[in-house]
Amino acid sequence: MPAMRIRKAVFPVAGMGTRFLPATKAIPKEMLPVVDKPVIQYGVEEAREAGIEQFIFVTGRGKHVIEDHFDHAYELEALLTAREKTRELHSLLESLPNTGSVSFTRQQKPLGLGHAVLCAQHLVGNEPFAVVLPDDLMVGQPGALRQMVDAWRVIGGGVVVAAEEKPREETQRYGVIAPGVSRGAVTEVLGLVEKPKPSAAPSNLCIIGRYILPPEIFAELERRERGAGNEIQLTDAMARLLGKMPFHAVTTTCARYDCGDKVGFLQANLAVGLARQDIAPALKRIVRALDVGD
Ligand code: UTP
Repeated sequence: MPAMRIRKAVFPVAGMGTRFLPATKAIPKEMLPVVDKPVIQYGVEEAREAGIEQFIFVTGRGKHVIEDHFDHAYELEALLTAREKTRELHSLLESLPNTGSVSFTRQQKPLGLGHAVLCAQHLVGNEPFAVVLPDDLMVGQPGALRQMVDAWRVIGGGVVVAAEEKPREETQRYGVIAPGVSRGAVTEVLGLVEKPKPSAAPSNLCIIGRYILPPEIFAELERRERGAGNEIQLTDAMARLLGKMPFHAVTTTCARYDCGDKVGFLQANLAVGLARQDIAPALKRIVRALDVGD
């Protein structure tokens, strides 16, 4: 019997972030801040809320600052303590994962999301796990992964992906679902196509960056077959599990901001800023005063 808990989450953060150059030349895109927290930290907090105990980062060259971010910063902590800046000190310490709960592995070549997940195989082992793409910032309560884990438990396992209806013309950017029966927020998945042209898309229900996967996914990823963009695609490996186990999409109640995209990233900053009591009044004044033209 597979464990009926999701204890581990994989964060694939080895992508090149080319859409954010030159900002991402020396800084990983996951470290860009939404208001005052790096994008990656929102994903980690969401995972923690969903009961995740082990955080597995698949990194690449130039991503070591992500490791530093989830470690102690002794000089800073000593300085803030000496100056009695308790609020700031608290903000540092609350983001620190428990001892031994974080691990890092490297994807030596950016061969695709599926390949990045495969790199975490030895750390995940033989149990179901979550994959969180931090670029997709999910805002809402309960958190997106929490909602998915709850659905996964009710269903009794298998694959659960987060999904969102997108305008037809955007299907080429997503894995698209051929939907079966829907019950509330949960839709049965009958088929999957990675990045189809709108005319070839089976629906406009698109997979977004949260997954719950069984360990059987690794055998499919091991085939290392290249898909769209000549990359080893997670969607293709998931598609091979169709019919072998329950497979569902969950439409969460959270708002999604695509922080891998310039406009999405700015939108996330505005939305999160406007929801923050400490800065919302000043931000509202500024936004109202903007002459945005047409
Ligand atoms: P993206 O498609 O956003 O690619 O990856 P990217 O390289 O990060 O960014 P751009 O398009 O060049 O700006 C989606 C997710 O998959 C991870 C990324 O880090 C991101 O979380 N990924 C992608 C890997 O970890 N390895 C890969 O080889 C590809």
